[in-house]
Amino acid sequence: MRDTDPQVGEGKVLCHFTMSLDGFVAGPDHDMSWMTGFTGRPGVEEEYTRTTGAVLGGRDGWDLDPDARPYGGDWQGPIFVLTHHPEDAVQRDGITFLTCDVAEAVRIALAAAGGKNLEILSPSIGRQALQRGLVDEVDLHIAPLLLGDGIRLYDSPGAHPIRLNLINSDDPIAEVNLRYRPVAVAVADAP
Ligand SMILES: NC(=O)c1ccc[n+]([C@@H]2O[C@H](COP(=O)([O-])OP(=O)(O)OC[C@H]3O[C@@H](n4cnc5c(N)ncnc54)[C@H](OP(=O)(O)O)[C@@H]3O)[C@@H](O)[C@H]2O)c1
Repeated sequence: MRDTDPQVGEGKVLCHFTMSLDGFVAGPDHDMSWMTGFTGRPGVEEEYTRTTGAVLGGRDGWDLDPDARPYGGDWQGPIFVLTHHPEDAVQRDGITFLTCDVAEAVRIALAAAGGKNLEILSPSIGRQALQRGLVDEVDLHIAPLLLGDGIRLYDSPGAHPIRLNLINSDDPIAEVNLRYRPVAVAVADAP
């Protein structure tokens, strides 16, 4: 197995997340303070800034901070927010609120991506899109920590498994072997 090749903007639908080793993309109450203290692949933000044509997110993420933008604000492009009640959303230029089926939302946002990729930056919408067969790639950066609680990449109790093919390997069904050593936890920090 090798590291992933740099992403290519070619009209794909991506679920793109930084994820804890135990599968969380946000901590409790949407806490994201854990997303520091580790190194990313050099140039990774520029890579996705260049290859992303549009973003589709959900209402909870939007309400957290309507002024936040992907990739620290370096990326400029159309953002779509799925919500059942757009009438009480904080409005911003360049943001389109959608109330429609997830497949229609993906179709609209992908058309707006201008041949680049559509990033679904929402685990709940990613789950819906995965279950509808609308996702081309689940693109993950696995951070070296365990969160234990929060919002999962794919939270769908009772669902059927979704099998995946590993792209960065000659064997698409290869397991990925990772080996970590816990950083010492001070007794006072342990619950
Ligand atoms: N780690 C990472 O790389 C990364 C990247 C992106 C985001 N995140 C995190 O992900 C979290 C947000 O994701 P989330 O899944 O918790 O919430 P979300 O997708 O932002 O919001 C969920 C809400 O969106 C609306 N919605 C979802 N699907 C809909 C549909 N089909 N039709 C209409 N409305 C729909 C509903 O709100 P209403 O019913 O109220 O309208 C739903 O309760 C944040 O904490 C964010 O920081 C992490």
